[in-house]
Amino acid sequence: MAPSKLQLVFSAPLIALLFLSSALMASATSNGTSARSLAETSSQSVFSLDSYGARGDGSHDDTQALAKAWAAACASPRPAVVLVPGSKRYLLKLLALSGPCKSSVTVTVKGTLVASPNMADWSDKDRRHWVVFRSVDELTVNGGGAVDGNGETWWKNSCKINKAMPCKEAPTALSFHFCTNLKVESLKIVNSQQIHMSVEDCTNVQLTGLSITASGTSPNTDGIHITRSKDVQVTNCKIKTGDDCLSIENGTHNLRVSQVVCGPGHGISIGSLGDDNSRAEVSGIIVDTVQLYGTTNGARIKTYQGGSGYAKDITFQNMIMDSVQNPIIIDQNYCDKAKPCQAQESAVEVSNVVFKNIRGTTVTKDAIKLNCSKSVPCHGITLQNIDLKMEGGKGATESTCQNAKWTKSGTVLPQPCSSKNWGMLISN
Ligand SMILES: *[C@@H]1O[C@H](CO)[C@@H](O)[C@H](O)[C@H]1NC(C)=O
Ligand SMILES: *[C@@H]1O[C@H](CO)[C@@H](O)[C@H](O)[C@H]1NC(C)=O
Ligand SMILES: *[C@@H]1O[C@H](CO)[C@@H](O)[C@H](O)[C@H]1NC(C)=O
Repeated sequence: MAPSKLQLVFSAPLIALLFLSSALMASATSNGTSARSLAETSSQSVFSLDSYGARGDGSHDDTQALAKAWAAACASPRPAVVLVPGSKRYLLKLLALSGPCKSSVTVTVKGTLVASPNMADWSDKDRRHWVVFRSVDELTVNGGGAVDGNGETWWKNSCKINKAMPCKEAPTALSFHFCTNLKVESLKIVNSQQIHMSVEDCTNVQLTGLSITASGTSPNTDGIHITRSKDVQVTNCKIKTGDDCLSIENGTHNLRVSQVVCGPGHGISIGSLGDDNSRAEVSGIIVDTVQLYGTTNGARIKTYQGGSGYAKDITFQNMIMDSVQNPIIIDQNYCDKAKPCQAQESAVEVSNVVFKNIRGTTVTKDAIKLNCSKSVPCHGITLQNIDLKMEGGKGATESTCQNAKWTKSGTVLPQPCSSKNWGMLISN
């Protein structure tokens, strides 16, 4: 992002917020048609769902029509387009769209893909997926249309909502597994059964202009989940859900997130890492120009005790937080298990983490919480130019810092580094 725009964000935050939000809305809802993509379409073979027997009435099952259109497109020696025509709703059950394909494939969604709301259409054999793209090189999904997970029935039956129900998996609306040179752009993803989009084992990925929306009370409805993937960019997205805006999991390397608006939801999380004594490797994460509204966390790294490996070279910068509960948090004692987690010596090592140019408001007084491991302290943590005030001006904010080593021009902050005074925490 150009430095001039950053200046604007910070000199006139409110105006800039309104401006940026409406710009994001506009681009997230456009159907992505440009002169260039029309020109490309004319040299491509087009495989419309309607030519493969789809009804598009929202009640007949169109799964086979999409499967057939995909198979034809994937076998095309020329670049192919699978077209989901506009103004129609195509009902789908579980569906895998697999490569490798002969040439590049673009799935242009102008209408809506809607998940069957009938629970009898979902088998216990695979409850984790709805539409899965697997092993495709040069896949683009675009079109400005929608993917609707019809999640309300799943949410009602979630053990997080109804304690009488057993805890079971629910489908991820869109999954991308083992894809290379992947672009997903100009798409609305709404009301997923669980995670909205998951990128797993992929390389060279661009996610742009996505609008992801589900109720703030919907259970486990992460916006975008990324794992075992590298060289990933997420830009210009608007994500409102009931769980993490972005969850960045094990095996993510070289991820750049910019111009993303989150909330409601749980904010941006790296982890949880290292549960069940597992190894984790996460590096090269830049989260830049992200705004969070009313989220439970802002910028968070969470690891279980007993893990190994690392989370390193991570930057959260140029963020605006509005009424966030825990704006900045590193928790190496994270535990989200039925039983309390045992104290353990080993830990995922957290290092070289920069929190820079972060401003806005918090609804709890804990603006910064660095709760690191006693045996594997966090190191190389930088907090720079942080300005977090209590929402509504209700008193002073606080920061707590345990087992966090902080180097700035050769200075190591004394332990513990609890302080109500920002001046002691901010290195310059
Ligand atoms: C969507 O694309 C069509 C061309 O296929 C264009 O005519 C129309 O204006 C676009 N609609 C929006 C809302 O951008
Ligand atoms: C995390 O990734 C590392 C490196 O690829 C791997 O060794 C480890 O098994 C993974 N951990 C889990 C929990 O999958
Ligand atoms: C840090 O985590 C430990 C273990 O969960 C907890 O007992 C402690 O209260 C936490 N410290 C702070 C300051 O929150």
